[in-house]
Amino acid sequence: MKLIVAVAKNWAIGYQGDLLFNIHDDMAFFKNTTMNKVVVMGRKTLLSFPEGKPLKNRTNIVLTTDRDFNEEGCIVVNSFDELFEELKNYEDDDIFVIGGGKIYNDLYPYCSEAIITKVDAIENADTFLHNFDSDENWYLSYASEIHENNGLKFTFNTYKNKNIKQCE
Ligand SMILES: NC(=O)c1ccc[n+]([C@@H]2O[C@H](COP(=O)([O-])OP(=O)(O)OC[C@H]3O[C@@H](n4cnc5c(N)ncnc54)[C@H](OP(=O)(O)O)[C@@H]3O)[C@@H](O)[C@H]2O)c1
Repeated sequence: MKLIVAVAKNWAIGYQGDLLFNIHDDMAFFKNTTMNKVVVMGRKTLLSFPEGKPLKNRTNIVLTTDRDFNEEGCIVVNSFDELFEELKNYEDDDIFVIGGGKIYNDLYPYCSEAIITKVDAIENADTFLHNFDSDENWYLSYASEIHENNGLKFTFNTYKNKNIKQCE
């Protein structure tokens, strides 16, 4: 299982239910990386999508504690135990945690890789990602050259987990 995320320099990832950035090339990278794969998200991240609809051409798994929650095209799970049971049906390499803050920060220890777009900006935010640079269990294995869209500079990075927690 991997996670994929875009962060500001201060590890900020969201404000008032929305993303901080709308970077065309990063959106394309996200789409290309997750296409035909399994995406795992919290209910609040699903709600942030257009009309609260799941992502097309991907298996969408949504976490919520609401046992009555139902959305067409989504597999709904009510706990991490249920999630890990469901994930046994897929190849580990095909599973991507796609947010938001709560889900990333609870599930990152179980991920083998964190695919992180780092945006060279500091944003006001209410949702932050774990700082992978100051976690000795993780190391930066790849950093791209600097890209730029609409004046915003960013890099694509891959961190690897030296100590992957096993799902029970
Ligand atoms: N920068 C990025 O790449 C990126 C990507 C995705 C999202 N985001 C941003 O992140 C923010 C949303 O993050 P968030 O932390 O507020 O919400 P979230 O992680 O998307 O969703 C949290 C919800 O997930 C459910 N949940 C969490 N843990 C659970 C568990 N163990 N069992 C069952 N359900 C569980 C709960 O839903 P119920 O309340 O229904 O029980 C909880 O309220 C937004 O601003 C969004 O734009 C950023």
